Amino acid sequence: MDLLDGATVVVTGGASGIGRAIARAAADEGADVVVGDVRESPRDAETTTVELLRRETDADARFVECDVTDRAAVERLVDAADDFGGVDVMVNNAGIFRGAPFLETSAETLSEMLDVNVTGTFFGAQAAAERMVDRDAGGAIVNVSSIAGLRGATNAAAYCASKGAIQQFTAALAAELGPEGIRVNAVYPGTIRTAQAIRDSDTLPDADAEAAVAAENPLRRVGEPADVADAVVYLASDLADYVNGATLSVDGGQFATGG
Ligand SMILES: NC(=O)c1ccc[n+]([C@@H]2O[C@H](COP(=O)([O-])OP(=O)(O)OC[C@H]3O[C@@H](n4cnc5c(N)ncnc54)[C@H](O)[C@@H]3O)[C@@H](O)[C@H]2O)c1
Repeated sequence: MDLLDGATVVVTGGASGIGRAIARAAADEGADVVVGDVRESPRDAETTTVELLRRETDADARFVECDVTDRAAVERLVDAADDFGGVDVMVNNAGIFRGAPFLETSAETLSEMLDVNVTGTFFGAQAAAERMVDRDAGGAIVNVSSIAGLRGATNAAAYCASKGAIQQFTAALAAELGPEGIRVNAVYPGTIRTAQAIRDSDTLPDADAEAAVAAENPLRRVGEPADVADAVVYLASDLADYVNGATLSVDGGQFATGG
């Protein structure tokens, strides 16, 4: 299928992990892709995302260095999509996790996580929506939250706060941008095998830990970046033409079953 044929997709945090898989899945579905990230070299692979797309897909692709907390950098990122006809799909995926017990969470840690996870998502959506409204061609925005945006977790108060904010932000935009033909949805990944889960959050530090997480999941495995990417492609595509403001868990049933 060519679910995103002719579309231009911008992905933040697209150098690594879930963002890289989203870029790949979008390219496989016929989109051109602009990858924004603070780093071009991936945290978890040899080749850059743009090299991967150029080598293995027919997509046009380019990288733009972009810290999503920097409004001007986000504007430049989204403007780079003009080379491919302008942004049709904005995926606000960049996010960080800094674990700490609540009583030991510093103001710096709280600010850092809110800046990247909330302000970065806000800036990305705003920059994309401005251009979509100007072009009057509609569009789709997909925000990447987390199961931690739907339920609590220990050592993750700031992360849960930041990811929970994305749910209400997404709902607000669905109301405000729907009349402009812009659909805004969010995905809520469970435990996905990326550098964030392996190194940052210590959820999957080794095979034993992964087996324990998998055993608790109704589908008896942890998630892969491609699992999330497929859900994002669906929400970005015309298949989801009447889907707006949705909360789509991509977690093997982890949240629904209380995990
Ligand atoms: N891995 C999981 O288990 C999991 C679960 C739920 C939600 N998520 C969310 O999915 C998203 C992607 O996470 P991942 O697991 O692929 O992480 P990752 O660390 O593997 O990749 C994140 C990418 O974002 C980039 N990034 C970080 N800060 C940035 C900034 N300020 N500006 C631009 N780019 C920045 C990093 O350089 C990196 O390339 C995040 O929002 C994360 O919170 C991940």
